[in-house]
Amino acid sequence: MNAMKKLLGWVDERFPLIETWKLHLSEYYAPKNFNFWYFFGGLALLVLVIQIVSGIFLTMNYKPDALFAFASVEYIMRDVQWGWLLRYMHSTGASLFFVVIYLHMFRGMMYGSYRKPRELLWIIGMVIYLALMAEAFMGYLLPWGQMSYWGAQVIVNLFATVPYIGNDLSTLIRGDFVISDITLNRFFALHVIAVPLLLVAIVFVHLVALHAVGSNNPDGIEIKKNKGADGHPVDGIPFFPYMVAKDGVATVAFLIVFCAVLFFAPEMGGYFIEANNFVPADPMKTPAHIAPVWYFTPYYAILRAVPPMFSSQFPGVVAMGVATMIFFALPWLDRGKVKSIRYRGPIYKAFLAAFVVSFLGLGLLGTLPSTPTYTNIARVLSVVYFAFFILMPWYTKIDKCKPEPDRLTSN
Ligand code: HEM
Repeated sequence: MNAMKKLLGWVDERFPLIETWKLHLSEYYAPKNFNFWYFFGGLALLVLVIQIVSGIFLTMNYKPDALFAFASVEYIMRDVQWGWLLRYMHSTGASLFFVVIYLHMFRGMMYGSYRKPRELLWIIGMVIYLALMAEAFMGYLLPWGQMSYWGAQVIVNLFATVPYIGNDLSTLIRGDFVISDITLNRFFALHVIAVPLLLVAIVFVHLVALHAVGSNNPDGIEIKKNKGADGHPVDGIPFFPYMVAKDGVATVAFLIVFCAVLFFAPEMGGYFIEANNFVPADPMKTPAHIAPVWYFTPYYAILRAVPPMFSSQFPGVVAMGVATMIFFALPWLDRGKVKSIRYRGPIYKAFLAAFVVSFLGLGLLGTLPSTPTYTNIARVLSVVYFAFFILMPWYTKIDKCKPEPDRLTSN
């Protein structure tokens, strides 16, 4: 024990270990009324670690070569000891990452966590979200199955619709005139090292920004405005050990769900890994129905809902791009007097509910082959989706909010 203390003292003289521990854990005060919705940031961190660790081991046996990639994944699944577990951990992790992130973002929307002083925290989060989408998209090409190949073909071709520079742009992304071995190699490099490095770095910056301003909470009031004689927020409790213990319970619950999917439904009926991706990529045979994985389908449905102009899909591509990017603007679109949904009026609540219905509805439609009826429904839902954002400055201003309390209301 004494030796341990000595070692700690030695390190502490050379590195601010105890100071950092206190500043960010044992004396970092978090609002005491964190609820279910506040678990997802920590869980996102957990899934990031799962993805990195399972990814490292997959890379040891995977071959980024158009001739061998598919077979190397089958080899991992059949011959490498515990290879099936590693592969399913990684594919399940990818989908659950998006489940966790969508819930994490939705929490931010419900409690107005993007509002002042957390605008930058939200923007950093959005950069993470975009990086995560790029990471998932490039990862999906690697097994070199039919869906890997044709999904990538469809998405990269979208860049070709950009006026003037489109063809050059898509060739630049592919490194070739078609999706080929060259594309596979560069996507591998980006998926395995470039984007993960970026992700880890921005997640770190996300947490630095979070600790600078402090967490919001389900009441949407600033606990830092009400400090006790000891200088700490009266409605705050130290992150360590209290919140760490609470997050620990959530971690166990999440891992049970994770294992249930992993062991009993890793393909999730084709939603997590599509059936067609167990067929090797064949550039000569286009599958009858090409759809991206579920987490991209709301945007894909918006893309398909917009009619082509002069036989170009570009307007749809713009709509899809705007639909993704528009979240960046939330801090400036929201003019509400209060942050949390608890004190918002009925108009905001109705718009948020309509947005959720449109997002889920579009997500479902994006997985289905398009028919005239589905396209019309997707058009209506796309209008609802954009109305939520575009009309926000107006409806948040006229909405009748309830007065916010001075102290947090629940424990
Ligand atoms: C790998 C991805 C991410 C990780 C690891 C991560 C991690 C975290 C953690 C640990 C917290 C504190 C705990 C919590 O409030 O749940 C947090 C808070 C927050 N995150 Fe993230 N996050 C990620 C992605 C995002 C994204 C995509 C957004 C939004 C676009 C976002 C926006 C926020 C906001 C606004 C807060 C503060 C919320 C509040 O205090 O009410 N994060 N994040």
